[in-house]
Amino acid sequence: LAELAADLAALRPFWHPVAYAAELGEEPLGVTVLGEPVVVHRDGDDVRAFRDLCPHRGSKLSLGRVIEGRLTCPYHGFRYDGSGRCVLIPSQPPDHQVIPSRLRLQAYAAQECHGIVWVALEEPRLPVPACPLLYETGFHSFSPASITWRTSAARWMENFLDMTHFAHVHPGILADPEEPVVAPYEVHLTPTGLTYEFALRQQLDPARWPTSTGGVLEMEDAYAFYELFLPFTISIVTDTPGEGRWAIWTAGLPVGPAEVRLFFVVSRDYLLEEADEPFADAVFAIADQDRPIAENQHPEMLPVDLTEEVHLRVGDAVGLAYRRQLREIGLTYA
Ligand code: FES
Ligand SMILES: [Fe+2]
Repeated sequence: LAELAADLAALRPFWHPVAYAAELGEEPLGVTVLGEPVVVHRDGDDVRAFRDLCPHRGSKLSLGRVIEGRLTCPYHGFRYDGSGRCVLIPSQPPDHQVIPSRLRLQAYAAQECHGIVWVALEEPRLPVPACPLLYETGFHSFSPASITWRTSAARWMENFLDMTHFAHVHPGILADPEEPVVAPYEVHLTPTGLTYEFALRQQLDPARWPTSTGGVLEMEDAYAFYELFLPFTISIVTDTPGEGRWAIWTAGLPVGPAEVRLFFVVSRDYLLEEADEPFADAVFAIADQDRPIAENQHPEMLPVDLTEEVHLRVGDAVGLAYRRQLREIGLTYA
């Protein structure tokens, strides 16, 4: 796995979600991106991100504090400005500061967007994925707590894309277990990923998913529109006849080769007065059905080389397209 992890370097020039904006207060926050410890902190209206390592004696800056707007190392109190330059060494007289030029933190691009803090370890190749329904009038959106899966980000993503497992892993929720056949669907490649759509046969049980009638809802002709943003953001927008439109937008942080942390925006334009919790519970219930499968796939990282696993032309069309796009990014395992 350590060998495979080296492959993740191809993911450095992309924006990765690292925390909900609400989780980032005044103090520095330590996160891990592609196996690399990163410290993020607020600097006025800006968000800053640095390698979580003080060049003086290798301390973790995320154990420190922000003092007078400066990221301050917990060990000897060196302070660093927004560019990562050391601006104060407390053991030296204030009027006689001799600051070695190499006392500079490795800075990364950082920004806040959609209520999430994003970091790119190298000049990003694509913008932060769009999340249009978050800003659409008539829609209510909220972000359930983030969750962690012990598998690679690409294994998680492919599980999200895969619809031939619905009848087996999510019977009675996402598919009818008696109807496992998946009709052909078309995958459209976009400059930022891909899209596809298909009719869903869902059964919404109000015990699991709120319905406006309070009764069980058979969705013979619900419609799901998927949009994937490379490398690890996916949105599914579903039109449920008689109810409305709801969407689950999920962005995955590749913490390391076998750990992904998921951030969500869940939107709907109906049942606006209802509490959000039942909708969040439904998302987590579905995720918990997938989790034991995904966390036990082997290898943990998804083989991008198409000869390593066996593919079905119709059912796996989107997985195949996704693996090709990962290969174009330069990955062999993801
Ligand atoms: S290790 Fe950071 S100031 Fe000494
Ligand atoms: Fe699933």
